[in-house]
Amino acid sequence: MPENIVIVGAGQAAAQAVDTLRRSGFTGRLSLIGEEPWLPYQRPPLSKKYLAGGIERERLLLRPAQFYASHNVDVRLGRRVEEILRREQRVRLDDGSTLPYDALLLATGCRARRLEVPGAELEGVCVLRSIADVERIRSQIVRGGRLVVVGGGYIGLEAAATACELGLQVVVLELAGRVMSRVVSPSVSAFYQAQHEGHGARIVCNAKVRALEPSGAGSRVGRVVTEDGAHYAADLVLSGVGVQPADELARAAGLVCENGIRVDDHCRTSDPMIFAAGDCSNHPNAHYGRRLRLESVDNAIEQAASAALNMIGIDTVHDKVPWFWSDQYDLKLIIIGLGDGNDSLVLRGDPAAAAFSVCYLRDGELRAIETVNRPQDQMAARRLIAARAHPDVRRLADPSVPLKALC
Ligand code: APR
Repeated sequence: MPENIVIVGAGQAAAQAVDTLRRSGFTGRLSLIGEEPWLPYQRPPLSKKYLAGGIERERLLLRPAQFYASHNVDVRLGRRVEEILRREQRVRLDDGSTLPYDALLLATGCRARRLEVPGAELEGVCVLRSIADVERIRSQIVRGGRLVVVGGGYIGLEAAATACELGLQVVVLELAGRVMSRVVSPSVSAFYQAQHEGHGARIVCNAKVRALEPSGAGSRVGRVVTEDGAHYAADLVLSGVGVQPADELARAAGLVCENGIRVDDHCRTSDPMIFAAGDCSNHPNAHYGRRLRLESVDNAIEQAASAALNMIGIDTVHDKVPWFWSDQYDLKLIIIGLGDGNDSLVLRGDPAAAAFSVCYLRDGELRAIETVNRPQDQMAARRLIAARAHPDVRRLADPSVPLKALC
């Protein structure tokens, strides 16, 4: 059993690791270091309720301060780890102090990718990843104001939905030919585009941003110009063009990184004393037979729990079917599994009724399901996918047949 465990990063994965370590009998010194000034908090509400001003900051916290005190966690917030001194098994913090570790967990997450176009540094150009980002956006929102969202992925569309509900005029500029193309099938993209348009947002696909320009001679953004010469007036621009793993610390320490920090199925990096979990990790997935880097709350929780157990010598293989969700307006999108590599899609239910699922099959095996407002499909879908089920396609397409009847 190690005596000193240090967790770098204070997000969802970190909070889970603390919980699992203490529950599983780790009684040694446990340090949690996070660069943001807040205890670990939930990010999903940031683009929805928190952006809308519907919940207090405290409500975002995954655990109250009392939890960390009663679990004897040395929490250091507003502090960065600057360096991992692998030979000495210590980390160096930005206040110059060092902490020893017998096992180190990197739970550093992702950072918002910046738009790389002229004018991206203008005032009024925002990203949405942290509490501070949302508070910055909120302070600039004016009812009736013009918001241009660059990127029609999860963040862009969730924020667009919230902004429409707040009474802003919203334009979404998406580079690809359809929204959420990274994660959903064409029919789900079309459905979401229509829903956004129905709520008053304008969605422009195949839109390549050329520049952000100031209004007049000022330093504040005034419009977004695309490659085809079109321009979109903006009081505020939100860039939601994806995220990048925060793996700088690991790279600088010489750990193997490729699209995130490379770990094995025990969440161990190329240094056996150092583990990584959550959005920053690139890990093998036995079900899909390849490496994945997942941006998902569920993965952060599951992988951090596995990492924590392995750190204290309880052999645990991390191997799960991933799942994701997105809330936009009153629509609940749940994606279970990974649909790439499918050879057929089966529609279950009616998009016009705003409750349907799209099932991805390969050689008859159910590989993934996207469900819109059909939460009842979720649990059975997870079981069917994990079991590599080959459901009867006609019954699968019939929404009156419960998925669990196909298990
Ligand atoms: N101009 C316009 N659109 C762009 C550009 C660009 N220059 N570059 C990328 N895009 C589009 C992509 O085509 C994609 O549709 O931006 C979208 C980014 O969507 P996601 O990959 O889903 O990333 P994002 O919305 O930023 O969300 C990042 O945050 O909500 C969490 O974990 C969740 O994975 C999600 C992550």
